[in-house]
Amino acid sequence: MSGVPEEDGQKTFYLETFGCQMNVHDSEKVVGTLLQEGYRQVETVEQADLILYNTCSIRDKAEQRVFHRLADYRKLQAQGKKFGVLGCVAQQEGERIFERAPHVSLVCGSASYRNLPQMLVQIEAGNRSTGLDDRQTDECFETEFTARTNPHRGYITIIEGCDKFCAYCVVPFTRGKERSRTSESVLAEARQMADLGYTEIQLLGQNVNSYRDPTSDATKRRSFAELLVAVAEVPGIKRVRFTTSHPRDFGRDIVEAIAAVPALCDHIHLPVQTGSTRLLDAMQRLYTREEYLERIAWIKAAKREISITTDVIVGFPGETEADFAETLTLLDEVGYDGVFSFKYSPRPNTPALQLDDAIPDEEKARRLEILMVKQKEIQIARYKKYIGTVAEVMVEGYNETRGQWIGRMSSNKTLNFTVEAQPAPGLPGPVLGGYAPVLVTGSFPNSLVGKMVV
Ligand code: 5AD
Ligand code: SF4
Repeated sequence: MSGVPEEDGQKTFYLETFGCQMNVHDSEKVVGTLLQEGYRQVETVEQADLILYNTCSIRDKAEQRVFHRLADYRKLQAQGKKFGVLGCVAQQEGERIFERAPHVSLVCGSASYRNLPQMLVQIEAGNRSTGLDDRQTDECFETEFTARTNPHRGYITIIEGCDKFCAYCVVPFTRGKERSRTSESVLAEARQMADLGYTEIQLLGQNVNSYRDPTSDATKRRSFAELLVAVAEVPGIKRVRFTTSHPRDFGRDIVEAIAAVPALCDHIHLPVQTGSTRLLDAMQRLYTREEYLERIAWIKAAKREISITTDVIVGFPGETEADFAETLTLLDEVGYDGVFSFKYSPRPNTPALQLDDAIPDEEKARRLEILMVKQKEIQIARYKKYIGTVAEVMVEGYNETRGQWIGRMSSNKTLNFTVEAQPAPGLPGPVLGGYAPVLVTGSFPNSLVGKMVV
């Protein structure tokens, strides 16, 4: 590649994505839309006419990253390149981005992506264009032109936005109000994906449990659990996952569906944030420790073992040693298979900004470290229990250096494996996107190793 924009006259774009799976999937839709508008995607900033960042603002560090990136490439504006900021930082900072980074000409939050074609015309004409949401939008960003990047696992958004307003969280301000898609349109997309050869579908939303089917005929509406089952029944679909759940809206019917339908993966991500009821109240999470543990009890009582993971914030304003100790005991009580833990970071517009962020960063770091050490011990014990069992994995890749295939279990654990014996004649070895039975022979805190059963 020459490092200069192509001479064939076709407009080119480069897109980098930060943040969560919602953002990754939004980017697939943005790419599809740009391709439809006659753009071609390129791999480097240097080759591109239009440079886009799909940004995350969930924590301060994530937000800083985009401004560093913009500063790094500012000099390229002299070559006529245009810059755009999409996603949560765009929505949160709005036109202030033009002040901080004057070489940017496009600022667009996720609830305005459907207007991208007109916005592109604007910036091509040398103007600035802004698409911001005022929490009024009722529409979802549905496009037939989604350019899916993972050939085996496909994402489908079922609900956009969030109406929960947890005290620390910027999402209700960056992704607009809750809007659900009709279950029929979700199912139509799932069938289309199965026809294209996808076997795994992940349903996405900031809070999938508050999914409300907007189908006008009330007799045809599906609950979230019914939608899960319907997607799992689409011919060709072998695995269905969903993220993220909110404990307040999490219903027992979801556990019953997973227990009954093998294609529904045996994994639930149920963010708790803290084990202290006092702090849960300050966070405006709308449940107590006991109510959370009641949901965990439903999950543990299921006929099929279901893996549980969570998110935790340490150092939320007012978190005492006693509150933190309650989070640690909760980890023991639940026995999570994975915990994403974060230091509290004050975010613009959020209710918690009114509270004094008095816990010093070193103290937040100390609590985070204690939590991670504890969780590592829990995971070492939990992962060990799989040794000697056989699990089906989806084959996701091959690691040349280690000579190992990379597999993912239904419970979302990574199970790396080798193929020692030649498969019997007529039986295939592992193929990317295929499924393989693997005997677990060893364990680490975050992954398992094994041998393919032939
Ligand atoms: N500070 C730290 N962590 C946060 N999260 C969300 N907002 C903040 C914040 N202001 C974490 C929560 C959430 C996950 C996606 O990010 O744990 O579940
Ligand atoms: Fe995703 Fe939240 Fe980051 Fe937005 S702020 S990209 S919703 S993680």
